[in-house]
Amino acid sequence: MDLFEYQAKELFAKHGVPTTPGRVTDTAADARAIAEEIGKPVMIKAQVKVGGRGKAGGVKYAATPDDAQTHAENILGLDIKGHVVKRLLVAEASDIAEEYYISFLLDRSNRTYLAMCSVEGGMEIEEVAATKPDRLARIAVDAVKGVDVAFAREIAEAGHLPAEVLDAAAVTIQKLWEVFINEDASLVEVNPLVRTPSDEILALDGKVTLDENADFRQPGHAEFADRDATDPLELKAKENDLNYVKLDGQVGIIGNGAGLVMSTLDVVA
Ligand SMILES: Nc1ncnc2c1ncn2[C@@H]1O[C@H](COP(=O)(O)OP(=O)(O)O)[C@@H](O)[C@H]1O
Ligand SMILES: [Mg+2]
Repeated sequence: MDLFEYQAKELFAKHGVPTTPGRVTDTAADARAIAEEIGKPVMIKAQVKVGGRGKAGGVKYAATPDDAQTHAENILGLDIKGHVVKRLLVAEASDIAEEYYISFLLDRSNRTYLAMCSVEGGMEIEEVAATKPDRLARIAVDAVKGVDVAFAREIAEAGHLPAEVLDAAAVTIQKLWEVFINEDASLVEVNPLVRTPSDEILALDGKVTLDENADFRQPGHAEFADRDATDPLELKAKENDLNYVKLDGQVGIIGNGAGLVMSTLDVVA
């Protein structure tokens, strides 16, 4: 299950990863009220489960509550790669000196976990990965040994983070590993992880995928389910412990195991 940014940040906060304070809303009037309450410039951020929101106009800086309301009006209802914006995160805008990239994920081909880190984070990370792969460190993580602060520092160093922030970054990267392991995630990505002018390290964005196979030991994750986005029949099936995937057409396949069902479907088709 993919999480919204604001949900990812709830998990970050739970594990002590520093983020900017903010709140979620679905109205422009409320966005204004939250901005007023924060009392500082804010970012209005579209909450959709797709990357590249910034480039699509879904992330805007608002210096005043008036601006917050205007941006919120424009972003609500915006279509970002087929995802219509229904919710906004209003978060304190932070001063940014540099933007880094950090992620932990499951590396299926190498049968292990992988850390990726780069000093060149931000909205052009795909470009960096494609044209300057040496700037994006890829470091295998032993599932048993995990990531302590010393190893987190090595990851940051491999990503070419500057010496002045290595210690602070290591502490945050180690906490992100805690999120990855303790929440049974298959992806934890922070882009950007920022350095502020006073050398603080903050997670300004968060992308988390939770492994639903671990739901049985993660009762807290039920609250993250996106009921609006789930087909009512799929929801009903899930409540009855059935895996049901709604597809077009008139032939249904009942089987045992997702792979077998998909193969059967192909054969029938
Ligand atoms: N709280 C914030 N304060 C200041 N700038 C921000 C904040 N959140 C995001 N940004 C800026 O907006 C850019 C895009 O936002 P981000 O949350 O990464 O969305 P996406 O990755 O979907 O484009 C970031 O790279 C950063 O420069
Ligand atoms: Mg981002």
